[in-house]
Amino acid sequence: MKNIVILISGSGSNMAAIVQAAQAQQWAQRLDARISAVISNRPQATGLAFAQSNGIATAVVDHTAYAAHAQAREAFDAALMDAIDAHQPHLVVLAGFMRILTPGFVAHYTGRLVNIHPSLLPAFTGLRTHERALQAGCQFAGATVHRVTHELDHGEILAQAVVPVLPHDTADTLAERVLAQEHVMYPRVVAQLLK
Ligand code: GRF
Repeated sequence: MKNIVILISGSGSNMAAIVQAAQAQQWAQRLDARISAVISNRPQATGLAFAQSNGIATAVVDHTAYAAHAQAREAFDAALMDAIDAHQPHLVVLAGFMRILTPGFVAHYTGRLVNIHPSLLPAFTGLRTHERALQAGCQFAGATVHRVTHELDHGEILAQAVVPVLPHDTADTLAERVLAQEHVMYPRVVAQLLK
């Protein structure tokens, strides 16, 4: 059985798309895989309720609880690794997980860690990607699924989805168009990685 652990921080719509695609396409039987857990660094992440209502185990490793620690990032990542490793994952999927991960964490999951980023990498790493794409006058925008390395929003590109930028786009309308494509692309890549 190939276990998948999905990490979220917020609405978790990409996580929900993966869960729904797994159900609709019956991955469990075909790929001998299952989504074992959804883990959030924010207790209020709305995606947790979706996971629970789909019978998926959830956990919260709240990063704010580690803030006072001398090595806050390392301490948080160690706790996160414990929570993830309890599920012996074949694949760890970052889906709107808003934390910069330590090199130790990334090394621990080498070859098993993927992320989705809302830009056509290598353009626009980091935050406010849609706003920056509009400011730059891009005619196309999109999202990238990539392997995670120690460098933020780098790593081998596994798939990209491209959408046009339309004349009256705002960061919100562009984000919505890109997100709809993320929901198609990410489940496909996850399924591909389980083969
Ligand atoms: C997505 O745009 C994803 O590319 C980015 O954060 C957003 C998360 O959305 N990393 P959701 O939590 O999956 O709804």
